[in-house]
Amino acid sequence: MSREAALILDRCDELAAISADPEHLVRVHLSPEHAAANALVATWMEEAGLSTWQDAAGNQCGRIEGREPGLPALLLGSHIDTVPDAGRFDGMLGVLLAIAVVSRLPRNELPFAVEVVAFSDEEGTRFGTALLGSRALAGTWDDEWWNLTDAHGITLAEAFVDFGLDPARLPGAFRRPEDLVGYLEAHIEQGPYLEDADRRLAVVTSIAGARRFALTMTGKAGHAGGTPYDRRRDALVGASELVVEIERLSKQQHVIGTVGKLEAFPGGVNVIPGRVEFSLDLRAEFDDDRDECLRLMFEAAHSIAARRGLEFHDHEIYRADAVVCDLDLRAGIEAGIRSTGDELPMAFWSRAGHDGMAVVAVTPIAMLFLRCKGGVSHHPDESVRQDDVAAALDAYEAAVLALAG
Ligand code: GLV
Ligand code: MN
Ligand code: MN
Repeated sequence: MSREAALILDRCDELAAISADPEHLVRVHLSPEHAAANALVATWMEEAGLSTWQDAAGNQCGRIEGREPGLPALLLGSHIDTVPDAGRFDGMLGVLLAIAVVSRLPRNELPFAVEVVAFSDEEGTRFGTALLGSRALAGTWDDEWWNLTDAHGITLAEAFVDFGLDPARLPGAFRRPEDLVGYLEAHIEQGPYLEDADRRLAVVTSIAGARRFALTMTGKAGHAGGTPYDRRRDALVGASELVVEIERLSKQQHVIGTVGKLEAFPGGVNVIPGRVEFSLDLRAEFDDDRDECLRLMFEAAHSIAARRGLEFHDHEIYRADAVVCDLDLRAGIEAGIRSTGDELPMAFWSRAGHDGMAVVAVTPIAMLFLRCKGGVSHHPDESVRQDDVAAALDAYEAAVLALAG
């Protein structure tokens, strides 16, 4: 039914038009664009027959009942926030596939209710820490987050109020484990393994654990001409050495380390950088490997700093441990993939983070991956094939029905 897949892709385009920047897709947590996207997604949910609400954390939700009202719910979801200069499928495609699945499901027959959740903040673009929507749902909120600030100095608590939400009501977003049967998410792979194997769909075995840090290297600013090399304490040269060491150690230890942001201060062409602020994103299949590599990176950071007369400081801004997908839910996804004619579904771990990492605190999780062009993601070139979307929709629906059976 490629008409449904075409509609899903059209809707990805419509959502991509809701951006803070007309040239580059960016839609962050609790922004006016987030509100507009929630409203649009709610209309699509209602068209598909779901009753809708926005929860106390800004997640857009919808529900159909099972064979009797009030049964525990199978959650289907993904996120509708984006990274800066994003592609149009990371997150959004999973939400739209979930709505399309529900539009196909029988009403008042299933042994569970089905809910769709469009999570408000998976990426952490605005406040630095990620999974805020799903952590509210999972009841793992940390009240220290209320004081996180965005680039304009607006606190998370203020952003809630500006969005029309009440921080005091946040606990209302919590979902009790006894009201849930599980969480499924469909997502583009964001890597090349499916395409390289010439396959369309995969079942996810686990999700990589990640830690993120705000790092600072501090030296002393000074005149770019007048300061001899033996008197310089150039923070940018020290940070650069560390960035290269982070890549070397990541490869050596089989973890994935990325410095995605770096800013030198005071930032003059003729001024030696006195301070550098940069980020570290570190992931691995196993948390112990990640943490051991981190120890080596910080050891290297302190020795580079000592050799160059600099000071190194780290501040952890996000941590999510690796999560293993539930075997029963995985079996449902595998059955779904098999129903599309793929007898031996590909299975591998997700290098990317997903809302399931938070949701697992209240209910078991599993994921369906679909191929994306070149494995490209977190980039406007993200691309999927319409026939892959159609296959993912069939597999997703069949997975839900397999779990119902
Ligand atoms: C989310 O996309 C992440 O893995 O950073
Ligand atoms: Mn992402
Ligand atoms: Mn995503």
